[in-house]
Amino acid sequence: MNKKVILWISAILIILIVGVVIFLSVQNTTSSSTVNNASSNDISSNDNTNPIKSGDTNILIAYYSNSGNTKAMAEEIQNQTGADIFKITRVSEYSNLTEEEKSEIDNNERPEVANMPENLDKYDTIFIGYPIWNSDLPPIINTFLEKYNFDGKTVIPFCTHGGSGLAGTQRTIANKLSNSTVITNAFSLSRTMMETASTEVESWLKEINVIN
Ligand SMILES: Cc1cc2nc3c(=O)[nH]c(=O)nc-3n(C[C@H](O)[C@H](O)[C@H](O)COP(=O)(O)O)c2cc1C
Repeated sequence: MNKKVILWISAILIILIVGVVIFLSVQNTTSSSTVNNASSNDISSNDNTNPIKSGDTNILIAYYSNSGNTKAMAEEIQNQTGADIFKITRVSEYSNLTEEEKSEIDNNERPEVANMPENLDKYDTIFIGYPIWNSDLPPIINTFLEKYNFDGKTVIPFCTHGGSGLAGTQRTIANKLSNSTVITNAFSLSRTMMETASTEVESWLKEINVIN
């Protein structure tokens, strides 16, 4: 009888000890993974070598593109900066582009945009991309620029073109947005050089200190 009691007590003790050991080892694993998470967070928050690539969303790339060149450039900028991107879309597409855009420009029209970002408050830097049309901004860009308050923001124009470069459009934008900083080192890429977009965009973004 005594032997039986001793056996029972021993069995219970063994179960208790095993239970405590398992509990302690589980505790240990959890706390060490918390420590690992904390240290990796520290590393990324202290890593200032490329703050934009680490997911900052205070930069917006807003662009209009009719045949895709400016879209490709905007996407390249997004790729290299991690910024938010916004495609400006017309309510009514052109049925005869050459005629209609010329008349819109000549008549200083403001075609309606189909979509607008809810607000621009969270962005302090805004890239504005567009194709050059008749040595000018596409009219929809005027609508976009006039719809929002860009005061105090840094505005970075970029364009694609068929030979005329920026054609003074960065000055047009600067004149419109007199309370913003419109950078003078705006970027233009010829539609015949689209295959160089990646390297050209990279060196420009470095020049203007958007990436390191
Ligand atoms: C209606 C129209 C007018 C244009 N006017 C000019 C111009 O004045 N100067 C120029 O260099 N390119 C001009 N282009 C060429 C475009 O700027 C060029 O093809 C641009 O890359 C198109 O961009 P997207 O594909 O984003 O629409 C014009 C193109 C169109 C369709």
